[in-house]
Amino acid sequence: MNMSSSARPPSELWTLNRRSFLGLVAAGSAVLLLPSCTSGGTASSPDRPWKPRNPLRIPDELHPEDGAFGLTVQKGTTEILPGTTTPTWGVNGPFLGPTLRMRSNEPVRMSVTNGVDETTTMHWHGMHLPAMMDGGPHQPIEPGKTWTPSWTVKNTASTLWYHPHPHGDTAQHVFNGVAGMIIVDDDHADSLELPHEYGVDDIPCILMDRTITDDGQMPFDTEPNFGQMGTEMLVNGTMGSYFDATRTTVRFRLLNGSNARLYHLGFADDREFTLIAGDQGLVPEPVRLSRFALGPAERAEIIVQFQPGETVRMNTTAGSARIDQGDFTIMEIRAQGDAVPGVAPPTSLGGAGPLAASADATIRHFKLQGHDAINGQEMDMSRIDEVVPAGALEVWEVENTVYAHNFHIHGCEFTILDRSGKPCEKWETARKDTVHLPEKTAVRLAVQFGTDTDPMSPYMYHCHILRHEDAGMMGQFVVVTPGTEDSISRTLDGHGHG
Ligand code: C2O
Ligand code: CU
Ligand code: CU
Repeated sequence: MNMSSSARPPSELWTLNRRSFLGLVAAGSAVLLLPSCTSGGTASSPDRPWKPRNPLRIPDELHPEDGAFGLTVQKGTTEILPGTTTPTWGVNGPFLGPTLRMRSNEPVRMSVTNGVDETTTMHWHGMHLPAMMDGGPHQPIEPGKTWTPSWTVKNTASTLWYHPHPHGDTAQHVFNGVAGMIIVDDDHADSLELPHEYGVDDIPCILMDRTITDDGQMPFDTEPNFGQMGTEMLVNGTMGSYFDATRTTVRFRLLNGSNARLYHLGFADDREFTLIAGDQGLVPEPVRLSRFALGPAERAEIIVQFQPGETVRMNTTAGSARIDQGDFTIMEIRAQGDAVPGVAPPTSLGGAGPLAASADATIRHFKLQGHDAINGQEMDMSRIDEVVPAGALEVWEVENTVYAHNFHIHGCEFTILDRSGKPCEKWETARKDTVHLPEKTAVRLAVQFGTDTDPMSPYMYHCHILRHEDAGMMGQFVVVTPGTEDSISRTLDGHGHG
C-alpha cells in the first residue's frame, strides 16, 4: 500500500515494480504453463492466466501553478511481463504519460517536444480549443522539434486524454504507449462530495489490451479487421494490477485507451456501483448499474463501495461485436481491513442535460463504409468535407453499414438523440465526444460546436478504431463565422497532402 508512489518519478516506479516482479517470477512459473479458460487469446499469443502481479501504477500528476506543461515524447523500455523487456514509447517516461491537471477557465501553455525519430502530433481528445491547437494531423511535430500550443480551458470538470494523431500513424504511436489522462476540475464538481484524492480514492485507470509474448515482444496490428486485440489487460501500463484501497468508497476514472477493444465493465461479483460521468463530464443524474460498455476512446467515472478486508476483481465480459472477445480480469481491488469509510454515493450531480436541436437545425449524414471510408470517400488532408457555422447546434446522423465502428468528433460535445430510433442506454446520457456503433446500427447526435473560427484549420471526425482511422475512415470540417459558409474554400492549398 504505497500510494505516495504517485509522487515518484516514473523511472523509480518501474524499478520498484521490477523488484516486486522478481519475487513473483519463480512462484508464478508453474502457473504460467496452465491453460487459461478466461483469456480468449489468439493462437499466436501465450495463454497466460490472470493473476495479481504488480501494484497498480499511478501516473504522476502534472499540476503546474502557472499552467505551463512540458511534455517530451520519448522511447524507452518497460518490464511489462516480469523478467522481460518490452520496447515502449511514453511521455516524460518510458511508457504512457503523466496525468495533466487543468482547471476550467484557466489558461494552459503546452510545450511538446518530439524525442522520437518519427514525425508525430499531440491531440487533446475532448478539449474545446481552436483547431490550430488541436494537435491533429495538420500540426505535425518533426523529430527534435517542439510545438507550443496554448488555450484557455473551456471544458467543465471531466476526464479527457491526450494521444498522437499523425496522418496514417496514429495506431502505431498510441500502441507504442504515447497516451495520458487529462483531468479538468471546476468549482461545481469541487462543491460535490465526490472522492477526489488522486491515487488514494480517485484512481486514474487507462485501459489497454496488449499481447506480450514470453520474450517481452508486443506484436502490433495482428488482427485482420480491427488491427489490435490484445490478450493481456494493462491498467496504466501495469499487467496483473492490484490496488490496495485505503477508503471504502473509491472513484475510478476509466479511460479506454485501447486501439480497438470494446469493454463491458463491471465486477466479478456483479456488484452495483454508481456511474457519475461520461466523456465530457458529469451525468445529469447518477446511474446505478452493474455493467456498462466503454468503447475505444470513451471515458466513464464510477464510484464503487467496498467492505473493509474484501477483495474483488474488476472485469470485462465478452460480447458479440468482435472487438469485445473474451472475458478478462482488469484489476484486483483489495480493500484494506482498516479502510476508512467514505461518503455515500451522490444522489444528485447537476451534470449538463441533453442537447436539444431545433426543428430547423442542420442535419448532416455520415455513412461508415467498410473499414476505410465515410460517405464513399477516404480521408484527404487537403479536402474540407464539412463547413460548420460557429456555435451551431446540429444533428449528425451516423449510419454504420458494416461491423463495429465508433465515431468521434473533435471540437464539440454531443448527446445521443437515439440509437436506431430507440433511446440510448442510461449510462450514455452524459455529454459525449465519442460513441460506439454496433454493427448495422445508426445513431443520431445533437452536436454543440464551439465558437473558435478558422477556415484554414480543420477539425477531424473519424472512427476511433485506430486502424480504421489510419486507413481513411476520417473526414475534416472547419468552423467558420456564421454567414460565410458559402465563401469558404473546400480545399487546403499547400496544406498537407492526401
Ligand atoms: Cu482521440 Cu481524433 O482523436
Ligand atoms: Cu479527439
Ligand atoms: Cu471503425
